[in-house]
Amino acid sequence: MREQIAMITGGAKGIGRACAEAFLENGARVSLISRNSSELESSSQSLSKTYPGKVSSLSGDISHPETVTAWFEKTRKELGTPTSLINNAGIFINKSVQEQSLEDWEKVIRINLTGSFLCAQEFFKLGKATTSSRTIVNISSLAGIRGTEKFPGLSSYVASKFGVVGLTEALAVEGKALGIRVNCIAPGAVDTEMLRQAIPGMKAKATPKDIAKIVLFLCDENKSAVVTGSTIEVFSNL
Ligand SMILES: NC(=O)c1ccc[n+]([C@@H]2O[C@H](COP(=O)([O-])OP(=O)(O)OC[C@H]3O[C@@H](n4cnc5c(N)ncnc54)[C@H](OP(=O)(O)O)[C@@H]3O)[C@@H](O)[C@H]2O)c1
Repeated sequence: MREQIAMITGGAKGIGRACAEAFLENGARVSLISRNSSELESSSQSLSKTYPGKVSSLSGDISHPETVTAWFEKTRKELGTPTSLINNAGIFINKSVQEQSLEDWEKVIRINLTGSFLCAQEFFKLGKATTSSRTIVNISSLAGIRGTEKFPGLSSYVASKFGVVGLTEALAVEGKALGIRVNCIAPGAVDTEMLRQAIPGMKAKATPKDIAKIVLFLCDENKSAVVTGSTIEVFSNL
C-alpha cells in the first residue's frame, strides 16, 4: 500500500473518511473531495496532523465535470498519479414518487451515478498503468441489488445504486486494456450520518471501518489481483 495514492469522493466523513484513515494507516497518500468546505478542511487538517504531506483535498461537487478535472489536476500536482479511485460520495432524497420533482430525481442520479462516471472517466484518461495495476471501487448499496428489501421514498436512490452496479461491470470490461480493475461494494446498513437521516432508528452492525477494510482488500494487488467486475454484497444485518 505504500506506493498507493487513493482518491476518495466524500472523504470528509462516514465511510469515505474511514477509507482515508485506513489507506493512511497502511502508508498510502489520499486525496479527498466533498462539498462542505469547513467539514472537509477540518477532516483533512486532522488527518494531516498525523500524516503530514500525505493528504490533499479540494472542496467541490463531483457532479460538475470541471470540478472533477480540477480535483485530478490538484491530486497529480500535490501527490502524484493516483493508483486508486473510491467512488463513495452519495446522497439520498426521501420523497414519494408523486412528490418528487424532476430536479430531485436528477440531483440524486447526477451525484450518485453521473459523478461516479465522471471520476472514473478522468481516472481512465490517465492511461495504462506502468508498474502495478490500478483500481476503482464504487460504493453502491444493498438498495441497488435485485431482490433486497426496498424502502419507500428512495426511488431515485435505488435507481442510482442499480446504475452504479451496472457501471462497475461496464468499466471493468473497458478497464482491462488499461490494467484497471473495477469493483463495487453494496453495503447494507452502516452506522453513519446518512443512515441516521435516511432510516431513523435503524441499527447498523457494520461500521465505516468494516467497509473500509473491504475497500483496501479490493485495492490490494497482493490480495485481489484477479477480482474485477465484481460486486460484494454486505449483508451485515442478517
Ligand atoms: N450508511 C449506510 O448505511 C450506507 C449503506 C449503503 C450504501 N451507502 C453508501 O455509502 C456511501 C457513503 O455513505 P455514508 O453513509 O458514509 O454517507 P455520509 O456520512 O453522508 O457521507 C457522504 C459523503 O459524500 C459527500 N458528498 C455528497 N455529495 C457529494 C458531491 N456531490 N460531491 C462531493 N462529495 C459529496 C458528503 O459531503 P458533502 O455533503 O459535504 O458534499 C460526505 O462527505 C454513499 O454512496 C452511500 O450511498 C451507505
